[in-house]
Amino acid sequence: MRAYNFCAGPAALPTAVLEKAQAEMLDWHGKGLSIMEMSHRSKDYVAVAEKAEADLRKLMNIPDNYKVLFLQGGASLQFSAIPLNLLGKNSKADYIHTGIWSEKALKEAQRYGDINVVEAGTMVDGKLAITDQSTWNLSDDAAYVHYADNETIGGIQFANIPKTDKPLVADFSSSILSAPLDVSKFGLIYAGAQKNIGPAGLTIVIIRDDLLDQAKAEIPSILKYSAQAKNDSMVNTPSTYAWYLSGLVFEWLLEQGGVEAIYKANLAKAELLYGYIDTSDFYANPIAKENRSIMNVPFTLAKPELEKQFLKEAEENHLLNLAGHRSVGGMRASIYNAVPLEGVQALVNFMDDFAKRNA
Ligand SMILES: Cc1ncc(COP(=O)(O)O)c(C=O)c1O
Repeated sequence: MRAYNFCAGPAALPTAVLEKAQAEMLDWHGKGLSIMEMSHRSKDYVAVAEKAEADLRKLMNIPDNYKVLFLQGGASLQFSAIPLNLLGKNSKADYIHTGIWSEKALKEAQRYGDINVVEAGTMVDGKLAITDQSTWNLSDDAAYVHYADNETIGGIQFANIPKTDKPLVADFSSSILSAPLDVSKFGLIYAGAQKNIGPAGLTIVIIRDDLLDQAKAEIPSILKYSAQAKNDSMVNTPSTYAWYLSGLVFEWLLEQGGVEAIYKANLAKAELLYGYIDTSDFYANPIAKENRSIMNVPFTLAKPELEKQFLKEAEENHLLNLAGHRSVGGMRASIYNAVPLEGVQALVNFMDDFAKRNA
């Protein structure tokens, strides 16, 4: 049987997608070979790649003046690619700091430019919150403003898109396709695939056309957005299987009714889990309500000495990967698009039973 997988990434994929990939594994569409064994320049593969892009454009309603790139190196390589491409001559950028991932992004950027760090985390009634934008000290001459929409480890998420007249650059690794998004508000959106899109090995970059051509001349072609756009993300051999499988996930999402429908399902899952945690004396979530992530739900036990026991029993109940990130401890349930409501209900039932037995 397939267990419920609450891993933060690589994360759960829809069972229907895995079944389709399995059925097509040895003989893709009667061609006598696997898609993995096909040239990325072949007519068949290019059609698969183009269909995946078209479906992602449909799902996210991406305007025509944006390129969609299917890259490698993870979101972490974008931490460098973004400043190398976008800093331009003035070499200044604003980075909003809300947790571990936005910090990693700004630390990389500091190697290339003059980075203004805006500390945007604050404690409100003992819970972590994101400060109001009116308190931020943004620069007048920044080449761009960077933030991480959803901090996967901390479980803290922006309630609104920050406002700026500079290009807005955002890490959506753990929240892309989870809720409707107005892409036109952004200069660049990026996301590692291995949470809400597909397997690891693929990174999506959505970039507005006017930002394509600002890279420093000496950077590697593979990192240059203009070169990747000109070559349909095939400056070199792309991550062909991850691209194909992500395309199957996009088809699955369209079948579910698109992002609006999946957002409704995500809200129901998040409400169920947070609702239960809020009524319990045994579990607690450390984030202010307005900034709670709908994708990653960290929680602590009133008796931390029972964490190992909790994880062991959860696994025996087919509820996998509930340990918090190694840097923060505690528990974390990642409830991405592919985790069904029944999975969250099974988790809540288990948590309640565990609390009753151990209170
Ligand atoms: C918000 C966020 N940004 C960046 C990363 C880094 O992604 P990658 O491992 O693809 O480099 C992660 C990984 O978990 C993440 O959650």
